[in-house]
Order: sequence, then structure tokens, then C-alpha cells
Amino acid sequence: MQERYDLIVIGSGPGGYVAAIKAAKMGMKTAIVERREIGGTCLNRGCIPTKTLMYSSHLYAIAKEFQELGIHCSGLSYDLNRIQDRKDQVVDKIRKGTKSLLESNGVTIIEGNATIMDADSIRIQNADEETFLTTDRILIATGSNPIIPAIEGINSKNVITSDELLSQRDQLYSKLIIIGGGVIGIELATFYLEMGSAVEIIEAADRILPNMEKEVSQSVAMNLKKKGAIIHTKAKVVKIIEDSDNSLICEYEEKSGQKSTSAKGILVAVGRRANTEGLFGNDISIAMDGAHIKVNEKFQTSIDNIYAIGDVIKGRQLAHAASAQGIATVEIMNNQTPSIHLDIIPSCIYTSPEVAVVGMSEEEAKANDLEIKVGKYPMLGNSKTILSTGERGFVKVISDTASGRIIGATLFCERATDMVGELATAIANGLTSQDLASVIRPHPTYEEAITEAVEDIGGMAIHLMPRRR
Ligand code: NAI
Repeated sequence: MQERYDLIVIGSGPGGYVAAIKAAKMGMKTAIVERREIGGTCLNRGCIPTKTLMYSSHLYAIAKEFQELGIHCSGLSYDLNRIQDRKDQVVDKIRKGTKSLLESNGVTIIEGNATIMDADSIRIQNADEETFLTTDRILIATGSNPIIPAIEGINSKNVITSDELLSQRDQLYSKLIIIGGGVIGIELATFYLEMGSAVEIIEAADRILPNMEKEVSQSVAMNLKKKGAIIHTKAKVVKIIEDSDNSLICEYEEKSGQKSTSAKGILVAVGRRANTEGLFGNDISIAMDGAHIKVNEKFQTSIDNIYAIGDVIKGRQLAHAASAQGIATVEIMNNQTPSIHLDIIPSCIYTSPEVAVVGMSEEEAKANDLEIKVGKYPMLGNSKTILSTGERGFVKVISDTASGRIIGATLFCERATDMVGELATAIANGLTSQDLASVIRPHPTYEEAITEAVEDIGGMAIHLMPRRR
């Protein structure tokens, strides 16, 4: 008879593995079940491989501008196989690190497919074995899978999801059509454009990145177009046809009628859906919220001792949100108050320049009739941006007029993703624009733009032309 666990976590992505380590550190006898590779989508098919490939593409794009920097470089080219090898090494290194963190904290790693049979028992199936484990609590962290829309011809060869695109070897398509101008579509468009391929984006909404504020959508769209992308909005793909020369013809409808375009490859990036397939046995039923598992504010499902976090529940599909929920859930299981502000979730897009937002956008604040003040600093006035041949961008900070507290920020600039944490800290701790202006930021840095933006709230930014009186 197997020993009973305090907690079994299903899924080892950033939600599950972080929760498992936290639980072990808090003294719970913990196991984690994974049917694929340790690390989940983020490590194996998402954030890490994408950003590793983009590190190469970004350097390649910069290398094309070497002349301007006084550096001579001839015969510049790339080797996609080598780029992919390095990406695999990065993923492998982090995966091994994650595995040894789990092991050294005493978490039992179980390989196999987990099915919840009832509130305290789980069946594990792998190639030739079936075992049953019992536990006091279960945490579901099974993540999400790409949505495949019902479009005629969607199953054609070379119509791929981000999973396949991230392991593409030998050569990139000379042109890629991307269905869906969301975060995945836009990041992979950036990778393709930086590597020198042509990109055409077909987005159903009236703008790319429709979940972001308009100013971000417009700035990113302008930037992508400058790099050569063609973007169609309010456009709907109706049919994909395989042509005789291995090309794909993509027929789509937009305002001006039915059109078609062709490429060797089509990326489908229209969102991700909660992964619950095969998760529940016949004798258990759990309340759903649409396609997601329904949870209360304690991350409990309709069965008290079964919890769920991350992409499998409704909310932001972000690795760091899942990790934070994992930590909070384990704290709740141990009768502690969550130590993390779960409502303040920075959101990042690794374009060039990067996008990072946190808290309320100017648009949202206005839509909610809040009295706000906005400070904004254009990056073309920032010394670090100028000396490193940076592009147009901005840092925008929003404060509540009455209290002066920072309630939101939007960064569209180099290293935005590394800087947004400071604004998240400010929002979480109720800091005012004055508090943020009162610290010395080093020179020359991108983060000097935060000083300027918060000073601009009171019209006092030093490196900004005075507003017309
Ligand atoms: P998404 O929800 O961000 O974007 C999907 C886009 O496809 C939307 O703009 C939508 O309007 C459009 N769309 C939907 N159906 C369509 C159709 N039939 N034709 C044309 N357009 C259509 O989903 P995405 O990009 O697949 O990303 C999935 C999740 O992963 C998101 O929640 C995203 O935030 C997360 N993610 C986060 C990253 C980051 O933090 N840097 C990186 C990659 C993904």
C-alpha cells in the first residue's frame, strides 16, 4: 500500500512545480505528476524557447546595423540548426535545474498521466503500469493547449501552432502568415521579421493585441510595419488551400471583400484553451466555468480539497501569475494569508522594443471615471536609448489624483520587461508619484525614464520641453 500524501500536484509547469516546492518547504509530503517534460508549456514550448530564439534573432537584427556602430562584419548569416541546438540546451539546463530543485526539496516526481478518481485518490497511468495514490489534497495545474479554429484546410501540412514553429529546423519559411495578432502571434512575428522573413498577420479584432490599451496596439503595429509586416485587422480566415508548389493559399474576408494571400507556412495563434482532457474519472464531477475549472477566491474547486491554478482556471494565462497562485494556494492550505498581491500582475510582450504593463491603463481608468493624472516620457529623450540606437517608445505612469498613488504603468521601450517590477512594487505598496520621484536612478539607464514620467505628472520633468501654457 502506497503512503498517503498531504498534497499531489498534477502538472509541473510554473504553477505546479512552484506550488510543489513551496508545499515541501512548508513541511507537506508532496508528489508532482507529469506526463510530458518537467517544466510545462512555459519551459518546453512557450516562454523560454521563444525568448531564447528571440535572443538570437535580436542579435542578428542588431548585427545587420553594425555598420552604423562602426563595426565591420562581412558574410553575416545564421544557422537555424545551431540556434535550435542552443535553445534545446537552454531548455534542458533549466529543466534539469527544476528537477533537482524538486528532488532536493523532497518532492516525489511521478511520471505518467494522472486521473482524479475521487476527492482523495488519483490513478497514474504510464506505458505499462497503472498505480493508485491517495492524498489529503490535490492541486490541478494542468495548463492549456493551443486552440485550433474550425477553418477549412486548417489541418494542411505546414499549418502549425507555436509548438511546431519553436522546433522548426533547417530553414524558416521565407514568408509566414500568422492567424491571430495576440501575444504569441506578435512575438513570433518579431522573431520571423528579425530573421529576415516576410510576415503577414490576419487578426479578427479591430486591432492587434486587442486586450491591451489602444496606444500599445498602435505603437506595436507601427513598429512591426516599419520592420516590413503586413497587418490585416477585422479580417477572418475562411479557407486554407494547399497549392501544387507546396504553398498554402489563405483566403480571408476583410472590410473590402474576400482576398487571398499565400505563403509556405501558416502559424495559428488564436488563443489557448484549458487542458482538462482525461483529468477526471467517471465517478467524479467538478463545476466548470465555461471551458475552465471553476474556483473560489481560495482556488478551491467545487470539491473542497481539490484546488486549481494557472491556465486551467479563468484569468490571465501567464507563467508568473500561475506561480504566484501556486504559492498562495499552498499558503491557504496551511491556513496562512496569501503573501502575494494576486491582483497586480505585470504583463509583458517581448517585441523590440518591449512592452510591459501593470495595474490600470489610462483607458481603463478613464472608462471607470477615475480622477487620474498621467505622466509620460518619450524614450527618444533618454540618453541610454539614444546611445544604444534605441527606437521610439515611452514610459507612462498613471496616478490617482486624490491620493497621488501610482495605479498603473505602461512601458514601451527597451528592457521594459525588466523595469516593470518597480512599478508593480509601487502599486502593491501604495507608493505615490512623489515616492517614486524621491529616489536616485543611475545615469545613463533606461529607468531614468521612470523618474521623468513620474515628475511629468506634476509638470516637472527636467528632460522634457515645457508644456505650452
Ligand atoms: P491571445 O488571446 O493573446 O491572442 C489571440 C488573438 O487571436 C486575439 O487577438 C484574437 O482576436 C485573435 N483571433 C482569435 N480567433 C481568430 C481567428 N479565427 N482569426 C484571426 N484572429 C483570431 O492568444 P495567444 O497569442 O495564442 O496567446 C495565448 C496566451 O498565452 C495568452 O493569454 C497570452 O497572454 C499568453 N502568452 C503570454 C506571453 C507573454 O507573457 N510574453 C507569451 C506568449 C503567450
